[in-house]
Amino acid sequence: MRAVGVTEFGGPEALRLVDVPAEPLGPGQVRLRVQAAAVSPTDTHARSGAYAGRDPIKTPPWVPGMDVAGVVTEIGDGVDHLEVSDLAMGIVVPFGPHGAYREDKVLPGDSVVRVPEGTDAVAACTLPMNGLTARLALDLMALEPGQVLAVTGAAGAFGGYVVQLGKADGLTVVADASEADEQLVRELGADLVVRRGDDVAARIREHFPEGVDGLADGAVQDALVLPAVRDGGAVATVRGYRGDSSGRVQVHPTLVRRVAEDRAALDRLRQQAEDGVLTLRVADVLPAEQAAEAHRRLARGGVRGRLVLTF
Ligand SMILES: NC(=O)c1ccc[n+]([C@@H]2O[C@H](COP(=O)([O-])OP(=O)(O)OC[C@H]3O[C@@H](n4cnc5c(N)ncnc54)[C@H](OP(=O)(O)O)[C@@H]3O)[C@@H](O)[C@H]2O)c1
Repeated sequence: MRAVGVTEFGGPEALRLVDVPAEPLGPGQVRLRVQAAAVSPTDTHARSGAYAGRDPIKTPPWVPGMDVAGVVTEIGDGVDHLEVSDLAMGIVVPFGPHGAYREDKVLPGDSVVRVPEGTDAVAACTLPMNGLTARLALDLMALEPGQVLAVTGAAGAFGGYVVQLGKADGLTVVADASEADEQLVRELGADLVVRRGDDVAARIREHFPEGVDGLADGAVQDALVLPAVRDGGAVATVRGYRGDSSGRVQVHPTLVRRVAEDRAALDRLRQQAEDGVLTLRVADVLPAEQAAEAHRRLARGGVRGRLVLTF
């Protein structure tokens, strides 16, 4: 099976086409002929070996990628929400050769749902992983309608979905943006936009002197953003930050693996995309063999929407 992966961890140039064994299909699983796989920041960490220590499979190749979309080609016993030839999208929890950058993928049925109606595989593959993470971040913070949510990295894939889901949840949303991204972030639905940067917490406090009720830190600014949040407020972090030891705010490290088989949540995201609540944003489409170029572009920053590899 054709895949893109690494035989030695390294920079973008380490990515190459590799041949991987077909995966057996078991009960409760589905097989996809992958047409599109999204390229996310976490894939660059997987490529460079940052997760090697916790990967149960220690032999090469390693295949990155956490989002796929494609055609269902086989269905295991017990899966009744999909049919062969459906166009479907799924979240992948990668290990060893089992990542999203491959043409044939077996996944738990509960990690896969139909794509939003009217959406192709390229657009659909941008939704599962970051959509589920955004949903989980909001659920962990458990804000009430009318409360104030701040979002950093709001122009990004995770941040953008948090802004849109937060608005759909009835929250007031204050989001950061560079000058160039301000219009985009407003269009995502932010009620208020403040300039991004190391002083973002002070800028948020200018508008909310008591501090906001919750903050989703898509820019991974960690300690810098805590002062934006009121005493007893909540923060969702996405790269493991656990907060300072003061306990002044509740910090929720948010790990999408936890909800990778939450089919109801994934299906709700599908519905919200169909209803126009969520905007699927594609930055560019590259053939799988140009994965190294996609990783280089992601590392340079400034990519808006997801880069997508096609198989
Ligand atoms: N734990 C989990 O399960 C999980 C799941 C999903 C995502 N994540 C993590 O969440 C983070 C965001 O992911 P993503 O896909 O949304 O990435 P993304 O699309 O690249 O978005 C990140 C955004 O933050 C901005 N940014 C970066 N550094 C900043 C800074 N110092 N100040 C202000 N803005 C800054 C980026 O701008 P530029 O492009 O201009 O740099 C970009 O707009 C990543 O670290 C990712 O690994 C974790």
